[in-house]
Parts: sequence; C-alpha cells; structure tokens
Amino acid sequence: MATSRNLPTTDPSTLRSAVQEHYTGRLEAGACCSPMNVEVGNAPAGVPTFGCGDPNAAAAFAPGETVLDLGSGAGFDALRAAEAVGPTGMVLGVDMTPAMLQRARTAARDLGHHHVHFLEGHIETLPVPSASVDVVISNCVVNLSSDVDAVLREAFRVLKPGGRLRISDTFRHDPDGTASTTTTPDLEGWCACEAGAHAPEAFMAQARAAGFEAVAVDAAPEGTAVGDVYGAVLHANRP
Ligand SMILES: C[S@@+](CC[C@H](N)C(=O)[O-])C[C@H]1O[C@@H](n2cnc3c(N)ncnc32)[C@H](O)[C@@H]1O
Repeated sequence: MATSRNLPTTDPSTLRSAVQEHYTGRLEAGACCSPMNVEVGNAPAGVPTFGCGDPNAAAAFAPGETVLDLGSGAGFDALRAAEAVGPTGMVLGVDMTPAMLQRARTAARDLGHHHVHFLEGHIETLPVPSASVDVVISNCVVNLSSDVDAVLREAFRVLKPGGRLRISDTFRHDPDGTASTTTTPDLEGWCACEAGAHAPEAFMAQARAAGFEAVAVDAAPEGTAVGDVYGAVLHANRP
C-alpha cells in the first residue's frame, strides 16, 4: 500500500513542539489564509484559517447537534459550526497550542457564542467523554500527528453510534505508488502539512481498522500530477 508518511523524528514531543512553534508564529505574523485557497461560506470576520478544505460542508450539520473540531486552531470551523447547529447544539474544539486557544476563545466571546468551548488537549488522547458527539470534524490537522491510528480510534470513541467523521486534510496523489519516498522529511515540510500528507488508500484502511464504515475520500482535483499534495475530505461513519 502506498504511504509517504515518513516521520521527521521518532520523538512525538519534538514533533509537537515544532508544530506549536510553527503555528504560534503564523498566528503572530497575522497569517490570514488557507494555504489551499478554499472558498467557504459564513466565514467569521477576522478569524484566520489554516485549513485545506471545508469539513463543515461535508458534515451537513443539523440544528441541535454536538460537534467536535480536532485541532480547532483560531476557531474558524468551530465558529462556523456554532452558527449551523445553533444555541440548542454545542461545539467543542480541541487544540494543543495555547496561542490558538486564546484566539479562538476571544473570537467566541466577541461573537457571543456561549455554546462553543475550546479545550486544551491532544487529538490522540481527547479530553471528551465517550459516545458524546454527533459529528467530528477536522481541517488540516491529522496529517500533523505522529499517530494517526490513535486519532481515528479516539474519534470513534467519542462519536455516538451513527455519528459522522469528516476530516479535511492533505493527501499526496500517488495512484500507482510511484511517488512514495524513503527519505526522511524535515520538520519544516512536516509543519507545512506537506510531508505528512496521507495516501488515500492507507488513510481509508486506517479508518476501517478503527471501526468506521462507509469510508471514502474525495477524488483528487482534475489535473493533479503524481506526487502533488492536495486537499480533500475523508468521510466515515460510526456504525
Ligand atoms: C494547520 S492548523 C489548522 C487549524 C484549524 N483547523 C484551521 O483550519 O484553521 C493545525 C492546528 O492543529 C493543532 N494541532 C496539531 N497537532 C495537534 C495535536 N496532536 N493535538 C492537538 N492539536 C494539534 C495545531 O496547534 C494547530 O492549531
């Protein structure tokens, strides 16, 4: 099976520190835009996004639902989800970077969204009760994890039976397995969401192994060349 996810270091804490430093720096530098130039509806004014797609569009929220955003960053998708589920619903965001959490909490307060809560934590060990969430979303985060299997197991655990998982993330176009590399990527390429991009088949197999069904990944955009990194959504449901 094709996989291009070689880790730049075997020490997860080194990887996490590099990711935190990278995104704190981008936030402080006033970065405003998705690297993939994705157009989305109901963008919260002044809230930066570092995403690579639109998990919310794929999630199709209903009013009253409980949503969890893995790696919620400055709150862009969580705040959009809060609009969609309304005050009878609830949105939780989990992130490990203090500067991101602070920015997200300020935005939620300014927007008057009392049903959004941003929690400090790791997506591999979620600070969320089992079977408590209708939808898990994520935008350009899982590729940054050194343990994707743990992330998927945790997403499965916190979802209610029948719950939906919609992960927007980076993928490497490698239909024949010819773009796989054995070289060790550097931390910069990892933090930029490129080196850790998923092979679609491998990511789907990992989701099925975690217990998900109806697993699918959006096709690569037309014209994507072998080896290119692109944004797409993994769709999966908890039985
Ligand atoms: C590329 S940004 C995306 C942020 C947000 N989802 C968005 O679309 O704007 C990646 C975010 O994931 C967080 N993150 C990365 N790895 C994480 C982990 N293992 N646990 C929790 N948060 C993590 C980072 O702190 C950062 O805020």
